[in-house]
Amino acid sequence: MQDQTVRVTANRAISPDFLEVEFEWRRDFGLPAPGQFFELRITETTAPLLRRPYAFSGYDPDRQVAAMVYQVRGQSTQMLARREPGQTVRVLGPLGNAFGLDGRPEKVVAVAGGVGLGPILFAARDIAAAGSAVRVVAGFRTRDLIPDRGLWHGLETAVCTDDGSEGFAGNVVDHLRSLPAADLDGARLLACGPMPMLAATHRFAQERGLVCEVSVEEMMACGLGVCVGCVVERADGEMVRVCTDGPIFDSGVLAWT
Ligand SMILES: Cc1cc2nc3c(=O)[nH]c(=O)nc-3n(C[C@H](O)[C@H](O)[C@H](O)COP(=O)(O)OP(=O)(O)OC[C@H]3O[C@@H](n4cnc5c(N)ncnc54)[C@H](O)[C@@H]3O)c2cc1C
Ligand code: FES
Repeated sequence: MQDQTVRVTANRAISPDFLEVEFEWRRDFGLPAPGQFFELRITETTAPLLRRPYAFSGYDPDRQVAAMVYQVRGQSTQMLARREPGQTVRVLGPLGNAFGLDGRPEKVVAVAGGVGLGPILFAARDIAAAGSAVRVVAGFRTRDLIPDRGLWHGLETAVCTDDGSEGFAGNVVDHLRSLPAADLDGARLLACGPMPMLAATHRFAQERGLVCEVSVEEMMACGLGVCVGCVVERADGEMVRVCTDGPIFDSGVLAWT
C-alpha cells in the first residue's frame, strides 16, 4: 500500500451521470485486484479534509495506469471532474479485499447498479480473461444515463432500464428472475451498487441457493481500519469494518434489515 502523488492521464464524461478517470499507478504501488479500492485526496488544502474511497474499474499493467468510474456527488468529485490530463491527485491503496475469484468459479453473473459498474466490469474482464463464463447485468434508471457501450466491449452484457427505454424493462433482479434456471445453476453472483439493490440481489441468491458476493459502499473516514466509522453488522451480531474486513462480503454473513 502506497500514498503517492500521481498524474491524471485521462478524465472524460461517459454519460450525463458518470465520468471515468485514468491515472498513473506504478506496479510497485501494488497491483489492484477487482473489488479493491483506493483513497483519493484531491487537494493539499484542508477542504475537503478527508480522503474519499473509490473502487478501481480497471488496471493496465503495461501502461501502469488505473481507472475509476465516478459520479459527481459533492466537493471532491466536483474538483476531480475538473482535473485535466497532466494534473495531479493523491492516492492511497490498494485497500480492502477483492472479489474471491481464486477458486475460479466456472460461471459468474456480475450485477451492477449505477457507479457499481466500475468494479463489476473490472471483475468481469478478469474472469473472462481466465476463461470462465461471465455475464454482466447492468441497471440504469433510463436510456439517457447508459454510459458509453464501449466500456463492456467483448463482455456478454444485459442492460436493464427501470423505465424500459432500452434493453430489459425492469431492475437487475427482475432480469435475473427472467433468466432460464439453467443460466443461473451453480453460478456465483457478484454485486455492486446501491444498498437496496444489494439487499434484493442477496435475497434472490438465498432463494436460489447461490453464493453472492457484495461490494458494500459504506461512508468512510480513515479507510484504514482505525476510526471505526464504516462498521456494518453481521448476521451473528458482530460488527465488521467495511474498509479492512471488506468491502467485499459474502452476502450471507451480513445482517440485512
Ligand atoms: C469502498 C467504496 C468504493 C466506492 N467506489 C466508488 C466509485 O467507484 N465511484 C464513485 O463515484 N463513488 C464511489 N464510492 C462513493 C464515494 O466515496 C462517495 O460518493 C464520496 O463521498 C464522494 O465524495 P464527495 O466529496 O464528492 O461527496 P461528499 O460530499 O462526500 O458526499 C456527497 C453526498 O453523497 C453521500 N455519500 C457519501 N459517501 C457515500 C457512500 N459511500 N454511500 C452513499 N452515499 C454517500 C453523502 O452523504 C452526501 O450526501 C465508493 C465508496 C466506498 C466506501
Ligand atoms: S473508515 Fe475508518 S475504520 Fe473504516
